[in-house]
Amino acid sequence: MPSVLSSALFALLPCTAFAQMYGSLPSIAGNGSAVMPNGKYQISSEGIRAHFIPYGASISNLFIADVHGVERDIVLGFDNASYYSIDRLHPHLGGVPGRYANRIKNSTFSIDGITYNVLPNEHNNNDTLHGGPNGWDWRNWTVVAHTVDSITFSLVDPDGMEGFPGEVISYVTYTLTPYQWHIRMTALATTKKTPIMLSSHTYWNLDGFQNPATPLALNHSLFLPYSGQRVGCDGILIPNGTILPNQPYSVNDFWSAPKQIGANMSAPEMYGNCGTNCTGYDTCYLVNRAQDGPYDWRAKGPVAQLASPWSGIQVDVYTDQEAFQIYSCGGQNGTLALKETQGFFNDSSHPRTVQKYGCVVMEVEDWIDAINQPEWQRNKKQIFGPGDDPYVLEATYEFSVNRTLVNMFNGTMH
Ligand SMILES: *[C@@H]1O[C@H](CO)[C@@H](O)[C@H](O)[C@H]1NC(C)=O
Ligand SMILES: *[C@@H]1O[C@H](CO)[C@@H](O)[C@H](O)[C@H]1NC(C)=O
Ligand SMILES: *[C@@H]1O[C@H](CO)[C@@H](O)[C@H](O)[C@H]1NC(C)=O
Ligand SMILES: *[C@@H]1O[C@H](CO)[C@@H](O)[C@H](O)[C@H]1NC(C)=O
Ligand SMILES: *[C@@H]1O[C@H](CO)[C@@H](O)[C@H](O)[C@H]1NC(C)=O
Ligand SMILES: *[C@@H]1O[C@H](CO)[C@@H](O)[C@H](O)[C@H]1NC(C)=O
Ligand SMILES: *[C@@H]1O[C@H](CO)[C@@H](O)[C@H](O)[C@H]1NC(C)=O
Ligand SMILES: *[C@@H]1O[C@H](CO)[C@@H](O)[C@H](O)[C@H]1NC(C)=O
Ligand SMILES: *[C@@H]1O[C@H](CO)[C@@H](O)[C@H](O)[C@H]1NC(C)=O
Ligand SMILES: *[C@@H]1O[C@H](CO)[C@@H](O)[C@H](O)[C@H]1NC(C)=O
Ligand SMILES: *[C@@H]1O[C@H](CO)[C@@H](O)[C@H](O)[C@H]1NC(C)=O
Ligand SMILES: *[C@@H]1O[C@H](CO)[C@@H](O)[C@H](O)[C@H]1NC(C)=O
Repeated sequence: MPSVLSSALFALLPCTAFAQMYGSLPSIAGNGSAVMPNGKYQISSEGIRAHFIPYGASISNLFIADVHGVERDIVLGFDNASYYSIDRLHPHLGGVPGRYANRIKNSTFSIDGITYNVLPNEHNNNDTLHGGPNGWDWRNWTVVAHTVDSITFSLVDPDGMEGFPGEVISYVTYTLTPYQWHIRMTALATTKKTPIMLSSHTYWNLDGFQNPATPLALNHSLFLPYSGQRVGCDGILIPNGTILPNQPYSVNDFWSAPKQIGANMSAPEMYGNCGTNCTGYDTCYLVNRAQDGPYDWRAKGPVAQLASPWSGIQVDVYTDQEAFQIYSCGGQNGTLALKETQGFFNDSSHPRTVQKYGCVVMEVEDWIDAINQPEWQRNKKQIFGPGDDPYVLEATYEFSVNRTLVNMFNGTMH
C-alpha cells in the first residue's frame, strides 16, 4: 500500500473521495478485507497478529509468542466490536485519545488572545481528559484501507465539537511487519488554529493474564533510558509548570537501569506519586535525546522497554514523540472482564477480571498540557492551523523474547 499520508493532498480530500481512490487500488488482498464475525479487523505478519475496531480506531487484541512458543494476547480489550460503545466505564482501551490527549487544566486554553472553553469530563468537571466526554476514542472511525498487514482509519472532527476551534481531519494507519507494530497518525487543521495532541492508549499485560503466579504486571521490567525528568503535577494530575528530576534510585528512576514496575511500591514517596492518595504511576516522563546531537528516532534506540520475566515477551518502543506516559493501572479494581483469549478457565483461583496493578498503559505523546504552559515554548508541536504542516505521530513497537530476563527470574517465578 502506498504511504497513506505521505502527502497533505490526501488529507485534504473528503473521506468519500479518499475511499474511492483507495478502493480503486489493488490494496485489499487475501483475507485482510474480511471483517471478522465479532466485528473486528485482523492484520498479521510473521510472529505478530492483531485485531482492530473502528470505535476509537482501537487495538483490541495483539498476539505474540512467548519464550515457550505459546501465543499470548498481551493487550486489554473486549471480545467483540459492539461492546466497546455499550460499556460506560470507557477506560480508553487501546484507542486514540483526541483531539487533545491527557488533561487540559480548567478545561480552557488561549490561542492568539482568544480563550476557548472545552467540555470538562473529569474530577467534578475541573478538567478535560482525552478530548472531552465525546473525545475521539468515543467515536466510530471510518475504515478507509485494509490489507493483510495494514489498516487505515479516518475521522473528521467538526468545528466546535467538544468546544475545540476548527475542523480537524485525521488518519491513523497501523501496519505490521515481522515482529513489529507500526503506528502513523496525522491530523490536519483545515479551518482554524487548534490544539492537537494524539497518542495510543494501549493497556499491556505481557503475560496475557496467564502467569499462574500473578495476575499483576508489577514484575514487568521497565526501562526509560532518556527519561531523567518528568512533568510535575498537582493532586488531580494537572501539570503545575515544574519539570522534576528523577534522581537515581528514586521511585521515578527508570532511566539509570531497568527496574520492575513494582520495585518501589512500598517506598513512602510512592504514596501520592500518581495524585492525591494514589500509590503507583500515572506520570508524564520527558524523553530527552537532542543533547546527543541530531538523531533519527528509528535508529536512536527505544524510548521505552517493557518485558515480563515470566513470558519473556519484551516490547521496545521507538517514537518521534518527546514525552512518554506510564500508568500502572492503580484505578483497576476487579470490575473489567478479561477477554476469552486471556487468563485461565475453569479455575476459580485465577480471577477473570483485571486487578489493581494488573496492567500498564504506555502512551507516546508530547509534553502534557503544554497549551497551558506557554513558557515551555511547545506551540509549534501542539497548535496547528490551516496552511501548517500536519500534526504527525509515529511509533514502532518491536517484539522479542528476552531469555536473559527469563533466566534471571526462573526459580522465583516457575
Ligand atoms: C483465509 O481464511 C480461511 C478461513 O478462515 C483460511 O482457511 C485460509 O487459510 C485463509 N487464507 C489466507 C491466505 O490467510
Ligand atoms: C460482546 O462481548 C461482551 C463482553 O465480553 C459480552 O457481554 C457480549 O455478550 C458480547 N456480545 C456479543 C453480541 O457477542
Ligand atoms: C459504533 O459501531 C458499533 C458497531 O460496531 C455500534 O454498535 C455502535 O453503536 C457505534 N457507536 C457509535 C458511537 O456510533
Ligand atoms: C477557569 O476557567 C473559567 C472559564 O471557564 C475562568 O472563569 C476561571 O477564571 C478559570 N479558573 C482558573 C483558576 O484559571
Ligand atoms: C473541582 O471543582 C469544585 C467546584 O467547582 C470543587 O468543589 C472541587 O474541590 C474541585 N476539585 C476536585 C478534585 O474535584
Ligand atoms: C508542582 O508539583 C510538584 C509535584 O507534586 C511539587 O513537588 C511542586 O512543589 C509543585 N510546584 C508548584 C510550584 O506548585
Ligand atoms: C527502588 O527500587 C530499586 C530497585 O530495587 C532500588 O535500587 C531503589 O533503592 C528503590 N528506591 C526506593 C526509593 O525505594
Ligand atoms: C485522602 O486520604 C485522606 C486520609 O484517608 C482523606 O481524608 C482524604 O479525603 C483523601 N482525599 C481524597 C481526595 O481522596
Ligand atoms: C471500580 O471502578 C469502576 C470504574 O473505575 C467504578 O465505577 C466502580 O465503582 C469501582 N468499584 C469499586 C467496588 O470500587
Ligand atoms: C532483557 O531485560 C533486561 C532487564 O530488563 C535488560 O537489562 C536487557 O537489556 C534485556 N535484553 C535485551 C536484549 O534487550
Ligand atoms: C526454568 O528452569 C527449569 C529448571 O529449573 C527448566 O526446566 C525450565 O525450562 C526453565 N524455563 C525457562 C523458560 O527457561
Ligand atoms: C516478582 O519478582 C520478585 C523479585 O523482585 C520475586 O521475589 C517475586 O517472587 C516475583 N513475584 C511473582 C508473583 O512472580
